[in-house]
Amino acid sequence: MHSSFDLDFLSVTEAAALNCARWVGKGQRDLADDAACSAMRSTLNELAMCGTIVIGEGERDEAPMLYIGEKVGNGEGPSVQIAVDPLEGTNLCANGTPNAISVLAATIEGQGQLMHAPDCYMEKLVVGPECRGVIDITVPPRVNVRLMGKALGKDTDELTIGVLDRPRHDALIAEVREAGARVHLIPDGDLSVAIAALDPDAGIDALMGIGGAPEGVISAAAVLCCGGEMQARLRFSNEEQRERAAKMVGGDLDRVFSTEDLATGAVVVVATGITSGDLLKGVRYRRGLAMTESIVMNSQTGIVRRIESQHLTRS
Ligand code: FBP
Repeated sequence: MHSSFDLDFLSVTEAAALNCARWVGKGQRDLADDAACSAMRSTLNELAMCGTIVIGEGERDEAPMLYIGEKVGNGEGPSVQIAVDPLEGTNLCANGTPNAISVLAATIEGQGQLMHAPDCYMEKLVVGPECRGVIDITVPPRVNVRLMGKALGKDTDELTIGVLDRPRHDALIAEVREAGARVHLIPDGDLSVAIAALDPDAGIDALMGIGGAPEGVISAAAVLCCGGEMQARLRFSNEEQRERAAKMVGGDLDRVFSTEDLATGAVVVVATGITSGDLLKGVRYRRGLAMTESIVMNSQTGIVRRIESQHLTRS
């Protein structure tokens, strides 16, 4: 995917983060989400492309904008598939707590693919490049912890594993701790922490546990760009979800999905921080200016950039 798209999409997540940042800590989940969505949508519509939302805010009848199948872009240029999460971590933003980001993944049709993820859960295991080829989601977490420690040249008590703080993870958390590793519990935002696990300086060695499948596909696109590894399994709460997944994904729904099953080919992933967290600094204000930090990843060029931008907030 041409690297000029990198900056185009950077302007999209920056706009969403900036518009949403006014709602940080205000306790207004829906208004924060609306702010991120409307800015993301209007900026996407300025780009020279025929874009289609493949992962978005939901189906057409449940989301007023950025719904699955919505056409975006100015209608001139390549056909692009886009997976968006305008505000990943709605509660984090509303509560002013770490790790809220605005994020998207995109690919030109025919050059790459993003799995059209159903709205269900996904069990995820995400590691950076040094642990690629080492992990196995089908073995007990304590075994993966041991294998990761070996691959990274770390004692197990030097490992940090990101896990969503949910009752469904009680056994996982206990086992990881028993294996000697440190658990980084997060209230929300496993996409942000999945990307952080790819960054050797972020202090997180892996993401484990069950979160949203749409977030999982965008995580996989980031893994593809950074040369790490992701393994995943879909998790269904009811038969309806399974039937929908059968239509969208097909094949054996209980199989282990590799990084490339979820995202493959030439993809771009861009994320901008809304609240400061493990991956990015959030939006900060200074005398008529807003500062953003973003990460821009391109699987074709193999380049991962961190971009600090300064935006005039008053003319
Ligand atoms: P939202 O931004 O849609 O609120 O999602 C936040 C999130 O924590 C994701 O990061 C995660 O994948 C998912 O929700 C986990 O879902 P649940 O809260 O149902 O455990």
